Amino acid sequence: MELSRKARAITPSTTLAITAKAKKMKSEGINVISFGAGEPDFDTPQFVKDAAFDAINKGLTRYTPASGIIELKEAICMKLKEENNLEYSPAEIVISNGAKHSIYNALMAICNPGDEVIIPVPYWVSYPELVKLVDAVPVYINTSEDNQFKIKIHELEEKITSKTKAIILNSPSNPTGAVYTKEELEKIAEIAVKHDLIVISDEIYEKLIYDEYKHISIASLNDEIKNRTIVINGMSKAYAMTGWRIGYTASNKEIASLMANIQSHATSNPNTIAQYASVAALKGDQEVIEKMRKEFELRRNYMVDKINSIEGLSCVKPIGAFYVMINISKLIGKSFNGNIINSSLEFANVLLDEEKVAVIPGDAFGDDNYIRLSFATSLEQIKEGLNRIEAFIKKLK
Ligand SMILES: Cc1ncc(COP(=O)(O)O)c(C=O)c1O
Repeated sequence: MELSRKARAITPSTTLAITAKAKKMKSEGINVISFGAGEPDFDTPQFVKDAAFDAINKGLTRYTPASGIIELKEAICMKLKEENNLEYSPAEIVISNGAKHSIYNALMAICNPGDEVIIPVPYWVSYPELVKLVDAVPVYINTSEDNQFKIKIHELEEKITSKTKAIILNSPSNPTGAVYTKEELEKIAEIAVKHDLIVISDEIYEKLIYDEYKHISIASLNDEIKNRTIVINGMSKAYAMTGWRIGYTASNKEIASLMANIQSHATSNPNTIAQYASVAALKGDQEVIEKMRKEFELRRNYMVDKINSIEGLSCVKPIGAFYVMINISKLIGKSFNGNIINSSLEFANVLLDEEKVAVIPGDAFGDDNYIRLSFATSLEQIKEGLNRIEAFIKKLK
């Protein structure tokens, strides 16, 4: 029997393979330092948990409208207005099972078979596979350190064909930490309007931004671009609520109702209790977020300084999110115990075996010259892990 060709064409996540190996080693009692985390290491704020208990005790445990409860849609509209200068009505909001689900809904709602979707490289692992799942074609646009991993406008224009439907923008970016300025977004918006493109703007790391930088949503630039943008956001990263599975989109009504319809058949509403908890998160004291952000910033600073002091390694200082992309290109081709390291995956595997440090190979993000380290782990672990990496590099010949 031939099982789904589409399902079989989806690349399994290398991220998961390395983290699974690290977890297994940990369970065997090995002292592994893991830089693989894709989620905050903080606990969900207590007042958010309390709101969930409240919802349960009040019997708010049944189905809700498929696209989410009105209270949460209103809280999201309020947040978008106050923080992002974006005016949306509840009918333009669709609440889903995490931002990943929101992106999938968005692609399902806009793509026809063969449509092209532009994805900047390095990318978040799921973008290409989600695009393929809706029978569209990922078109990659390379970025480099010399432009802080941001796309160059003339290169973007070169990638656009009559089949281009959308571009996925992720600012702040996982894995690079790149954050686009207002001027850069204006140029991208201009191109999107000129070529009749939709922008899927993944803003999930919006709250994790450092130094004097500010997050700007491309949709806030003008009505023309707002009308063709699907804003993606959610509770996972900002509120340490990854397991609660609440993400959302803000878009024009036509796209929103298509996504709501798709979702009504695929999953129905996202978890009812988590929706009520999310209302509390958005309306509650936002100081908890600031505390986490400050801690992330301290860790980032330590990590970047240390990495750049190690011979053979270098990194660009990420402006947002909680990852550092380390350039290992000078080490590719070196050997360990007589075996040549030919790729980021081999580097990550030998590092895990030898020094018990888990990192994500850049290959997973479309660039083999890098490894990604997350700083969503304690400073103590970061220090120990980087010392081990330094020791490992000294052993390479
Ligand atoms: C760039 C990016 N977008 C979306 C998501 C998905 O977030 P959620 O947990 O809300 O599905 C992630 C999670 O790792 C991410 O890194």
